[in-house]
Amino acid sequence: MQTDIGKKAAGEKAAEYIKSGMTVGLGTGSTAYYTILRIGELVRGGLDIKAVATSTQSEQLAIEQGIPLIELEKVTQIDIDIDGADEADAQLQLIKGGGGALLREKIIAAASKEMFVVIDEKKLVKHLGKFPLPVEVTTFGWELTFRQLAALGAHPVLRLKDNNRFVTDNGNYILDCHYQKIHNAAALHAQLNNIPGVVESGLFLHYASRLIIGNADGSIREIT
Ligand code: A5P
Repeated sequence: MQTDIGKKAAGEKAAEYIKSGMTVGLGTGSTAYYTILRIGELVRGGLDIKAVATSTQSEQLAIEQGIPLIELEKVTQIDIDIDGADEADAQLQLIKGGGGALLREKIIAAASKEMFVVIDEKKLVKHLGKFPLPVEVTTFGWELTFRQLAALGAHPVLRLKDNNRFVTDNGNYILDCHYQKIHNAAALHAQLNNIPGVVESGLFLHYASRLIIGNADGSIREIT
């Protein structure tokens, strides 16, 4: 894998905020990957934390790195959740789910005191929506949910992987919705969550408390 300097810089920077005693949410994707690797190094150097993962992929990586995982039912508080995003704006609103892990990511983000988002500079946008918004839907009746979304102007496309329907860690499908520009994210969020069959959308509006942006030259900018 070719190292992406911006993603690596942001991913590794986020790990600096983790202190012994914390319970940490481990995000998913190619930027959170660098955070997990760095946390692994810190754990091997004596950092004493517990972690919960937002996908089977990140859980596997955490195990390989020797990061102690805790079962969700035993978690009372997650101190920091560190995760990537597909788009972020300066108001800390996000589109997530490009990797299909949005539901678990949102559950962990909602249970966390803080959510730090690690992105490269290309993902910081003025308006959300150029990146297709992932919407997780139940497999039962997905065609009807698809039609409802289409009628609302979402231009949904069923996500495929290797020519088969992509199935999330939770056994659902993803409809990627092509809005181009989202004008009122809060209204859209409410509209989507009102459609039976929609499990969650990739709009994360009030979760992020810090954006850690890695530039192509390896420097960092943070927005809180
Ligand atoms: C996973 O479902 C996503 O929400 C990721 O966090 C997001 O797609 C960012 O991934 P990258 O860091 O790989 O771009």
